[in-house]
Amino acid sequence: MPQQAQVKKVAPVTQNTHLLNWVRDIATLTQPDQVVWCDGSEEEKDRLIEELIDKGTLTKLNEELRPGSYWATSDPSDVARVEDRTFICSEKEVDAGPTNNWMDPKQMQEILHQKFAGSMAGRKMYVVPFCMGPLGSPLSYIGVEITDSAYVALSMRTMTRMGKAVLDQLGDSKEYVQAVHSVGMPLVDDNGKEIEDVSWPCNKEKYITHFPESREIWSYGSGYGGNALLGKKCFALRIASVIARDEGWLAEHMLIIKVTSPKGEVHYMAGAFPSACGKTNLAMVVPSLPGWKVEMIGDDIAWMKIGPDGRLRAINPEYGVFGVAPGTSEKTNPNGLGTLTENTIFTNTALTQDGDVWWEGLTKEVPENLTTWKHEKFDPTSGEPAAHPNSRFTAPASQCPSIAPEWEDPAGVPISAILLGGRRATSVPLVYEAYDWEHGVFIASAIASEKTAAAEGTVGEVRRDPMAMLPFCGYNMGDYFKHWLSFSEKMDKEKMPRIYGVNWFRKADGTGEFLWPGFGDNIRVLSWIVDRIEGRTQGVKTPVGIVAQAEEINSDGQLQTDLITRALAVRKSQWITECELIEKHFETFSNRLPEELTAQLKDLVSRVNQMSEEVI
Ligand code: GTP
Ligand code: SPV
Ligand code: MN
Repeated sequence: MPQQAQVKKVAPVTQNTHLLNWVRDIATLTQPDQVVWCDGSEEEKDRLIEELIDKGTLTKLNEELRPGSYWATSDPSDVARVEDRTFICSEKEVDAGPTNNWMDPKQMQEILHQKFAGSMAGRKMYVVPFCMGPLGSPLSYIGVEITDSAYVALSMRTMTRMGKAVLDQLGDSKEYVQAVHSVGMPLVDDNGKEIEDVSWPCNKEKYITHFPESREIWSYGSGYGGNALLGKKCFALRIASVIARDEGWLAEHMLIIKVTSPKGEVHYMAGAFPSACGKTNLAMVVPSLPGWKVEMIGDDIAWMKIGPDGRLRAINPEYGVFGVAPGTSEKTNPNGLGTLTENTIFTNTALTQDGDVWWEGLTKEVPENLTTWKHEKFDPTSGEPAAHPNSRFTAPASQCPSIAPEWEDPAGVPISAILLGGRRATSVPLVYEAYDWEHGVFIASAIASEKTAAAEGTVGEVRRDPMAMLPFCGYNMGDYFKHWLSFSEKMDKEKMPRIYGVNWFRKADGTGEFLWPGFGDNIRVLSWIVDRIEGRTQGVKTPVGIVAQAEEINSDGQLQTDLITRALAVRKSQWITECELIEKHFETFSNRLPEELTAQLKDLVSRVNQMSEEVI
């Protein structure tokens, strides 16, 4: 068969027969015109870009304004993760748990076989070997993505360590995650007639599927972000969370930062915020308080293992940033803009008349003659944005001006604090500390947020998103809570990370204005956390945790104390409602909910009931 001949021709790329056989099998199933093994070279990058420009997927941006950068726009139906089309196909339904869509693995394999049969006809099939984590680190894992999208192959080059070095590292081993991706648009119809390609091929029907037992990923029908760049959410979170459960570590939807105080104290912090709730922004934050320094280790995913010293150590498994564009500006996130000055792919932003990109929030003034993400002339009076709310930039993490020198340290960095947050207009204080690890796991298990444009669906609706992992935990979330609880026994008691709830998004009653300025001013909260760790502040014990007192937040004369007080307030009526909502949320997990968490909720309810109206 022609496919086999192709594979044989390129066989010297690797001697790994397991891998070669798998690639041959996928080619036999999907029937591509050609098999291309990606080596990660510059020539290959140039070739992919040329092909994508030819197809109209990429538009080269002005070389002077934005060197080495490109503008892509997706099909309007393929703009975000599709949670209702995401499946965990574990052998037993109960192992996927109540928060995941489940399908029997055999049944799903049958569907996928039909969908993938001939799905790459007329296209090239790229074999993309990638490593999540620094090559050679004991914390890293290798995957191979087979994809019929050059855009995906090119993006994987930025988002992961990709290419020949990975195959060399893999050697003859079978220890790699198999990830198969097709946009689901063959270029030949059922009668063998050629079909003309489009700039963003995809299929209305989508399947983002995971097989935790065999550690396989099959993704069909989408070319966008987390649906298609399979090293990210599919591998580094859904499959890795299962590996982490089995091996005793944590795969989390968290940023990692290095915070240095004016006194020179260094603390590494990890932070779980749901999609589009501020991880990239906090990871790159430029502190508004003098003398403080924050450097980025990672902006979206943390793999954390207990080191030989008993400390929880984190690595960023990614190599690039796939960040939300809207809202990114010189004022809100200057390091974000610094990251994407060159070598960046922008997807679904608007295009300016001089060949640069624009999105809502980038500048106050809207440039003249903008082209929208839908390739229309922008009409500012239309009520429609020029850039899609989930438009994103793909750039090398190393380009971040505040990247920490140790960001690729194979041993990881020791974590002193874990932050948990979401978008909460009411109830949740600006910052509060958990009494202990178990209480922290309870807080994490009950985190909620208003939904954002990062996933298809209703924006703004509040939903529980435990550990910011609701869409990403690859197994029963009740078991996941238990796994988290088990860490207190395994870590050095003195150096265990403390757990904090944070909320940058509390609003003034009635007006809808944020009470907290956010962005660079979030350092004032990090500074309180460092003070707590160093034993310099007391906070105030409330039913929900140890909350900062307004005067302990360093406002440096810049912020109004009464707004801080309101952002920190714990109100009885709001927390009675909150407790009821948590109770409902916990019911979902039935007998898989660890009893420690049931007890934690009971204690919270009784503390709240004993409250006078307001604390702080
Ligand atoms: P994912 O990549 O989807 O996981 O998102 P993320 O958590 O990295 O979110 P990101 O930092 O990209 O922020 C998403 C949106 O929230 C952007 O539009 C930001 O401008 C906005 N945002 C981030 N931090 C703050 C903040 O402190 N205050 C306010 N009001 N908005 C913020
Ligand atoms: C998220 O939705 O949390 C993201 C973007 O980080 S995507 O990679 O598309 O999932
Ligand atoms: Mn994310």
